[in-house]
Amino acid sequence: MKNSPVTPDDIAAIEFDAAAIAAAVSRLAAAIDRDLAGEPVVLVGVLKGALFLTADLARALPRTSDVRIDYLAVSSYGAADRSSGEVRLVMDASESLEGKNVVIVEDIVDHGLTLGYLRELLAARNPATLRSCVLLDKPYRRQVQVPLDYVGLTAPDTFIVGYGLDYQEKYRNLPYLARLHDRILGS
Ligand code: IMP
Ligand code: MG
Repeated sequence: MKNSPVTPDDIAAIEFDAAAIAAAVSRLAAAIDRDLAGEPVVLVGVLKGALFLTADLARALPRTSDVRIDYLAVSSYGAADRSSGEVRLVMDASESLEGKNVVIVEDIVDHGLTLGYLRELLAARNPATLRSCVLLDKPYRRQVQVPLDYVGLTAPDTFIVGYGLDYQEKYRNLPYLARLHDRILGS
């Protein structure tokens, strides 16, 4: 595998800039904040894609004084841009979720396999409420009809990187959401 440096040349187009992401995160936080009505919440971020989203959401929940942050990690896509159809839990959340208001925070839902798997996994732990928050919805290839309580943006039908989302572990650090050139995806 070649190990070329990340350059803006790899980016074909910016789909959502930092301001659009910030506005979407504010809308998500406002909706979560309204539904919680001041009740405690545990945000369970799905690593690595929802790393920044979880952090930004947590900081945008001003009315909720008891905001806990937890993370778990799954692997689904591996290093490629297509789902293997198999979801594995790589790291579990550390908090007990029993009786808690839990919001799963995920970067993007495509086939729905990952979120479907996680909802089942966490529902079995008897949370008081279980909701899903995703930054990006890709509704084009859904296989598992998974409930989405909070959706930030609808993604175009292309592979997206940036703000936590990767291609072969790269581009997570980009402050915007972007489409890669076809020559990069083909490599
Ligand atoms: P699903 O199981 O097909 O819904 O896949 C969801 C997971 O695949 C997400 O958590 C992402 O990690 C990854 N994924 C899906 N689409 C994209 C994309 O456009 N860019 C980066 N990762 C993606
Ligand atoms: Mg993900």
